[in-house]
Amino acid sequence: MKTRGISPAARLLTTLGILCALPAAAQAEGEAAKGREIAVNHCARCHVIPDFNPYGGINSTPSFRLLAKRDDYLERLQSFYARPPHPVFVRVPGVPAPTGEPAFVAPIEVSPEQIDDLIAFVEAIRAQQ
Ligand code: HEC
Repeated sequence: MKTRGISPAARLLTTLGILCALPAAAQAEGEAAKGREIAVNHCARCHVIPDFNPYGGINSTPSFRLLAKRDDYLERLQSFYARPPHPVFVRVPGVPAPTGEPAFVAPIEVSPEQIDDLIAFVEAIRAQQ
């Protein structure tokens, strides 16, 4: 006998899959929005953020679009506070300051959750390009 369309079991699995994916997608969006806000407030001083400061930033600083294009974007973002020039002015609560030097620009404090939000934001930029 010929069956048309997908079986009820497959239909049920698809529905369950969509139901499980929905909250995750909504959460990812929320984090990306929070990450954008953090980037606008703290990173735009030096980095160009899409749709915010296209002519801003500091010349030698990679734009967020460029950061998002790199294959190793995740590794670079997860450890950005330990990568020059950030160790001097970025502090992560619970992570010992890598240098005893005083900050040479206004210091920034980012929590590990905020770093996840920044990553979600960069992943949203990545998905657009
Ligand atoms: C005072 C200026 C300044 C601020 C503020 C700043 N950055 Fe940067 N950032 C730089 C510069 C300069 C570089 C390039 C360093 C290099 O190429 O050696 C850089 C590079 C990076 C890189 C790539 C690092 C690497 O080793 O490839 C990441 C990721 C990054 N910044 C994330 C951030 C995030 C996220 C914020 C905001 C929370 C931020 N930065 C705030 C100046 C800044």
